[in-house]
Amino acid sequence: MIQTGDAANYEPQDAYERLSSPEVIAQDGDLELSLRPKELKDYIGQEQVKENLAVYIEAARRRGEPLDHVLLYGPPGLGKTTLSGIIAHEMGVNLRVTSGPAIEKPGDLAALLTNLGRGDVLFVDEIHRLSRAVEEILYPAMEDRVLDIMIGKGPSARSIRVDLQPFTLVGATTRAGQLTPPLRDRFGIVQRLELYTPEQLCDIIRRSAMILDIPCEADGAMELAKRSRGTPRIANRLLRRVRDFADVMGSGVIDERTTKLALNRLEIDELGLDKLDRRMLDMMIRGYHGGPVGLETLASAIGEEAVTLEDVCEPYLMQLGMLARTPRGRCATGLAYAHLGYPVEDAQVKPKQFSLTDMLEDT
Ligand code: ADE
Repeated sequence: MIQTGDAANYEPQDAYERLSSPEVIAQDGDLELSLRPKELKDYIGQEQVKENLAVYIEAARRRGEPLDHVLLYGPPGLGKTTLSGIIAHEMGVNLRVTSGPAIEKPGDLAALLTNLGRGDVLFVDEIHRLSRAVEEILYPAMEDRVLDIMIGKGPSARSIRVDLQPFTLVGATTRAGQLTPPLRDRFGIVQRLELYTPEQLCDIIRRSAMILDIPCEADGAMELAKRSRGTPRIANRLLRRVRDFADVMGSGVIDERTTKLALNRLEIDELGLDKLDRRMLDMMIRGYHGGPVGLETLASAIGEEAVTLEDVCEPYLMQLGMLARTPRGRCATGLAYAHLGYPVEDAQVKPKQFSLTDMLEDT
């Protein structure tokens, strides 16, 4: 059973309604929920994460113990919430969903923890945004399954200790580097999620189209996959927009032609870059000779939040090899010059692939 109380009704940080944003937007509604696989076997991609989790879940089940606490990190929209649901399902326990910013006071966390049943999963999205006071309640809860609660104020204040049911905390973050070391160290299982390949996204799109009863041809699904910036949440959202175009301007079937027409109209290009990605690269090239340029400088030059550029644009541009992060700032590579139609020989940085680990550890 999935419970999402008031604490789950939070607005993701800086959510803004771009179709190609990996953040949850209002239009996603309950649809995302209906598309989420419930079992590990139906979850596409993230092979290593799946294989490891399958072992840990099986071992915990055999011992009759709750699963150790799990930290999932990586760019937004890759399925961290989905995986926490799968963990709860496979362990045969309840899932409770909340987020770092929604847990404002230690008492909010105490209420959540004391309501968990034996072995239940507590999913905390954006766990890097927990306040220090809340984090301190979490340490003994994770380690010794106890809550130390202060009662009263001033000289008469005293602390009482409450035992908790054994539980599993699943923490999710886009910014592993921002977790405090004591919190990070209390997770026994740490898994990084990677952007998906177009082939994996294509499988996800075809699965979603089947669930939603949308006729979808293989080449249409592949075209959509290539433009979904490695992110299932974006792929599933664009699938519905392309369906609108197919219904009104085509034969109702998602094929390559309709997908190209729809995504061109949405200004999402053949590599999945949207207007913001292109504006960012264009400013780097025309305004700063391709860089290096500092993130804050770049953000204010294009009138966007630095955190949006960092969390949303950069992971994908780096995966494509169009953007490099150096100690002196961001640089547009020759691939970015070529993609935007500038002479490649003007680029100072040749294309270079950075790993996700570098990116996350940089933050
Ligand atoms: N829907 C969203 N993410 C998915 C995934 N990884 N596998 C299957 N369906 C999904």
